[in-house]
Amino acid sequence: MGKWQKTGWRAKPRVQMPDYTDAAALAAAEAQLAKYPPLVFAGEARRLKELLGSAARGEAFLLQGGDCAESFDQFSADGIRDTFKVMLQMAMVLTYGAKVPVIKVGRMAGQFAKPRSAPTETVDGVELPTYRGDIINDLAFTPEGRVPDPQRMLQAYTQAAATLNLIRAFSSGGYADVNRVHGWTLGFTEGEKAERFREMANRISDTLDFMRAAGVTRESAHTLSTVDFYTSHESLLLEYEEALTRLDSTSGKWLAGSGHLIWIGDRTRQPDGAHVEFASGVLNPIGLKCGPTLTPEDLKVLMAKLNPENEAGRLTLIARFGAGKAGDHLPKLIRAVQEEGANVLWVCDPMHGNTIKSSSGYKTRPFDAVLREVQEFFAVCAAEGANPGGVHFEMTGQDVTECTGGVHAVSDADLSDRYHTACDPRLNASQSLELAFLVAEELTALRGRSEGQNATGSSAGVL
Ligand code: PEP
Ligand code: CO
Repeated sequence: MGKWQKTGWRAKPRVQMPDYTDAAALAAAEAQLAKYPPLVFAGEARRLKELLGSAARGEAFLLQGGDCAESFDQFSADGIRDTFKVMLQMAMVLTYGAKVPVIKVGRMAGQFAKPRSAPTETVDGVELPTYRGDIINDLAFTPEGRVPDPQRMLQAYTQAAATLNLIRAFSSGGYADVNRVHGWTLGFTEGEKAERFREMANRISDTLDFMRAAGVTRESAHTLSTVDFYTSHESLLLEYEEALTRLDSTSGKWLAGSGHLIWIGDRTRQPDGAHVEFASGVLNPIGLKCGPTLTPEDLKVLMAKLNPENEAGRLTLIARFGAGKAGDHLPKLIRAVQEEGANVLWVCDPMHGNTIKSSSGYKTRPFDAVLREVQEFFAVCAAEGANPGGVHFEMTGQDVTECTGGVHAVSDADLSDRYHTACDPRLNASQSLELAFLVAEELTALRGRSEGQNATGSSAGVL
């Protein structure tokens, strides 16, 4: 096996990538991107890897969420702030409710390229190439719009840089200060879950008052006033990824400079394909979507390729089977991991196996199916002796009506009210919060069970 090169993927079979028609324009865009600074730094990616390693051991929990597809049109400071805010709220519910440190990773600042189920789409008898995300072509259904345009990579980079800049400011500039927990209560989160969140916020405030009175140290005051927030996206458009790949002078390894964590989608995880080849050589933590067609044999090959040194935190397996299906698929994959003695973090994506077409014609996800898949994931992990280490979902801080159900009972007929996604339907703020409460309950129950087992174990030892 030769030494890994950032261009090595070009010699491998590729799927789900555009055929750019203007080679000179493509080369110019790639050359420009290659001169730009990386968006993230190697030390940050390494730190995230350490944290994910702790989640794999059950000492932390991964919360990964954001848009299905970021969009040029809907790019706004308020949009970023609201998504960031909901992530903080969810993390707070998990940290306070389940007493577990939460690793926060946005599907943000680079989540632009989309795999699609068909290469073309037909509307009113007109057939055009499908929309593949704003980094590739235009959502507008016109022949010009659907031509892949390499200039879009530069716009995506600029948007990602601006997004990250704002996230970094929110993370350390006072916005994420836990003392502002009441300020994170969004105006529109009404109802039972919002009430529970407010109660929790009150209790947190009390605790903080107590800590201040008791003389909190400078160091812990800093910890509470800032937050570590990481970025992630599907590493799909490999021209973009390659152009942002940089050599890390500290370790002599390659960094995908486009985001902290990159993942391989369920449609592009061919063991000998271009996407696996690219991800195999960068030092970042890597996610791998695991859908119903992934065989235990392929998983073993993929683990060997993506994490040959069995490094903790390097590989996150993201289960996405659909409600009612985890029991059919997950146990054999967990066993494959156990047979290899592989170090992985298991995470549940309850979104992508639960997409349906509603009676009103919109692509949607029933919220109860989303919740059910999370519960099934926890149950299967418990039965198989794996650690359920996180959740991965599509959400927005905006009050959209894209997934049906939840406390506000969005119905099929309501979907048209505020359906804004450029791709898959997202949970809105109150549905996201509801999901966080459910996950906190599952985690609390899990901890209770394992403490019970430890207690039994030690008394057996005494006997
Ligand atoms: C996604 O995460 O947006 C996605 C397309 O997921 P998957 O590869 O699991 O279908
Ligand atoms: Co999606």
